[in-house]
Amino acid sequence: EKAGYDHFMLKEIHDQPQAYRDTLSGRLFKGYPWVYLPELKLTPEQIKQFRNIHIVACGTAYHAGLVGKTAIERWARLPVEAEVASEYRYRSPLITPETLVIVVSQSGETADTLAALREAKRHGARVLAVTNVVGSTAAREADDVLFTWAGPEISVASTKAYSTQLLAFYAFAIHLARIRGTLPDEEIGPIVHALTKLPEQVESILQRKDEIKSYAEEIASREHLFFIGRGVDYAVVQEGSLKLKEISYIHSEAYAAGELKHGTLALIEEGTPVVALATQPDLYEKTVSNIREVMARGAGVLGIATEETAGLAGSVDRLLLIPSTHPMIAPALTVIPLQLLAYYASVARGYDVDKPRNLAKSVTVE
Ligand code: M6R
Repeated sequence: EKAGYDHFMLKEIHDQPQAYRDTLSGRLFKGYPWVYLPELKLTPEQIKQFRNIHIVACGTAYHAGLVGKTAIERWARLPVEAEVASEYRYRSPLITPETLVIVVSQSGETADTLAALREAKRHGARVLAVTNVVGSTAAREADDVLFTWAGPEISVASTKAYSTQLLAFYAFAIHLARIRGTLPDEEIGPIVHALTKLPEQVESILQRKDEIKSYAEEIASREHLFFIGRGVDYAVVQEGSLKLKEISYIHSEAYAAGELKHGTLALIEEGTPVVALATQPDLYEKTVSNIREVMARGAGVLGIATEETAGLAGSVDRLLLIPSTHPMIAPALTVIPLQLLAYYASVARGYDVDKPRNLAKSVTVE
């Protein structure tokens, strides 16, 4: 069942190259229409009528929604809100028939997410579900479904569900952008190309997992860790931080790098471990100055960069390089070392990785 791996989580991390291939299979083209999503009943006319989008989900699925929001806003130029379902459903959100509500749920059975779905439908919105389970309640009740083809996810800590949700969002954002005419073909081409390269790039990161393992063993005895990043890097570190807390019980905070000096910087002391993502060329200089702020207070920094931002090596204690990709697509790669970090930290601390305390795989109570 675990295919020779010690835990389901490690197996599922290694499933990601194949999960990427399966999720993208038949959906990408090297030219017009670039993305093909035949399962959507949504017509181009309906797509042109949307005025805004709400993305609603819980936990890791919500974190995927944060990246989805950024991609849709940037490429399709539609205002997007992303919110956790347990808040959204109780605050009488402004939903109109011109709102598309996207619910994201690996299981398709999370109670709060389903309640948000029903609330959206009650207000006449069209609902798209992004889910991994065919026949799930979300898949049955939504107007449209985009399946992530991650295969069964057993470990409580979600890994391949998150990363394939990112791919579903990228594909859907390109689809919206093409129909709305907001992204020229010259820009779509490199994005599609970057998506097709992901499976082999994930393989190459997995081959270097020992680098992360040794870092995880170093920080395993620590009580606190900080993650920082800007833009989509900030979205990914929120997922990395949840993963670490969830299975290793090391307290961590994910902070927008530019927000540190508005409070949290006070908690950085001599030796505090900080994981800093800097994969966005346009935000690189700003992120480096935030890294300097923490290093000046004695933090030990692991930087994660791409080949484009490899200059980071000169500003951090150690660097992990991920392969070159389109900046918006970087989360589909950077999440892999963060998953491995959580996994190896949990193993080093001797915990039951696949069954963390107090958590259930699917939260079907509100
Ligand atoms: O099945 P869902 O995607 O709706 O689950 C949502 C969350 O409960 C889930 O992502 C949770 O945060 C994971 N255990 C995180 O690893």
